[in-house]
Amino acid sequence: MTVTVVDHPLVQHKLTLMRDKTTPTNQFRKLLHEISQLLAYEVTRGLETELRAVETPLVTTHAPVLAGKKLALVSILRAGNGMLDGVLDLIPSARVGFVGLYRNEETLEPVQYYFKVPDDLPNRRVIAVDPMLATGNSSVAAIDMLKQAGADKIDFLCLLAAPEGVERMQSAHPDVNIVTAAIDARLNDVGYILPGLGDAGDRMFGTK
Ligand code: URA
Repeated sequence: MTVTVVDHPLVQHKLTLMRDKTTPTNQFRKLLHEISQLLAYEVTRGLETELRAVETPLVTTHAPVLAGKKLALVSILRAGNGMLDGVLDLIPSARVGFVGLYRNEETLEPVQYYFKVPDDLPNRRVIAVDPMLATGNSSVAAIDMLKQAGADKIDFLCLLAAPEGVERMQSAHPDVNIVTAAIDARLNDVGYILPGLGDAGDRMFGTK
């Protein structure tokens, strides 16, 4: 399993603007859209290609196209939706699934309330998207469910990760590659990433 931190200057610049608490909702959403396109470029770097015959205006040649079945993107609700559109801009023919989880405040365990994914996941490369890999509890649970549905080639795309979340994902799902714009210092007492950017869902949807 690999952990890729995308240190491209455009990604880092946009992430810094997103961390700024004075960045308003509309700007935050726009930045998330843009940064998701750049991260999508990185998470798809290893896709396989095959040669196809193509006639240019001058000659016939063999040139690469993506091989295999179309990708499946899976958004982990609700914050995953903020990344989904940017990724879809780059991979418009991807299939899309959704996993909804909430945290039971007594047990602190993630509880599934929604699960709808393409029915042929075993044949597709899956990219699960969720901006914040914090404790890793919900992300790991979402990957558990995707594997139960037959997925066996999964990448996890996030914007920010905490070391604790990376470790948790690595031990639960050592086969899942992680792509992120940054790994921050740590979690605080209530599971927020420090220095972080706050609650990604609230910031993108303006709910607080
Ligand atoms: N989820 C968020 O939205 N922000 C964090 O810092 C951690 C989890």
